[in-house]
Amino acid sequence: MSDHRPGYLPKIIAHRGASKRAPENTLAAIAEAATLGARAVEFDVTISADGVPVLMHDETLNRCSDGQGPVILKTLAELQALDAGGWFDVRFAGERIPTLEQALELAADRGFSVNLELKPTLGWEAPTVSAICDTLKNVWRADMALVVSSFNPLALEQFAAEMPGVDLGYLCDAVPPDWRARLARFGCVNLHCYAPFVTPDLVRDVRAHGARLHVFTVNDPDQAKDLFAWGVDAVFTDCPDVMLEALDDEG
Ligand code: G3P
Ligand code: MG
Repeated sequence: MSDHRPGYLPKIIAHRGASKRAPENTLAAIAEAATLGARAVEFDVTISADGVPVLMHDETLNRCSDGQGPVILKTLAELQALDAGGWFDVRFAGERIPTLEQALELAADRGFSVNLELKPTLGWEAPTVSAICDTLKNVWRADMALVVSSFNPLALEQFAAEMPGVDLGYLCDAVPPDWRARLARFGCVNLHCYAPFVTPDLVRDVRAHGARLHVFTVNDPDQAKDLFAWGVDAVFTDCPDVMLEALDDEG
């Protein structure tokens, strides 16, 4: 039986939405994740030049839209004039870069638990986190499961100070030897790390510490089965449908 703290995430988390089936970090990808049966979604959030939180993984527009250059140099109007779907498949041409508010409203409508990853442009941590907190305070309800995570220590630190009631995840690729101290420093209840660095000993230690371990990015069901057998709490996957079917899990 799972616990049901406000930040509880189920075992299968759709990474950037259902990002194998739809363009990552778009409303289409979030909606598709729900259609495929996922109950949790992760997305990456940064800000526009005029300070509006939007979903985008990269600091530039080059990979995931028909725009070019840094996201932080474009206003929201300029960002939302871009095509954020055609690069993935012509079926998604015309898909827009969503605001955080649009993504949260859709996630709430679909009953998702959400992992919001703070992805500030380097040097823009303070305005990014402030804008994200403002949005959360306006549109997020306390009964909706939310975990906020980041690789960026400045962002985590500021978020923890501005919204102390939200569960935090410490994000890393390789797990640093002082991970316990880092969780404590930011008040994180979860460790989120890159799959190749997960070992049975790490899982045992994280669980003994009382934290939850969430692992990215796992698209191979056999790898997921091993991780769950070791005691990993959840995996981020680009293909929640494949994972849910293989694991015969409620998600
Ligand atoms: O939050 C898990 C995962 O999304 C972290 O890596 O680069 O895919 O945002 P990335
Ligand atoms: Mg991410």
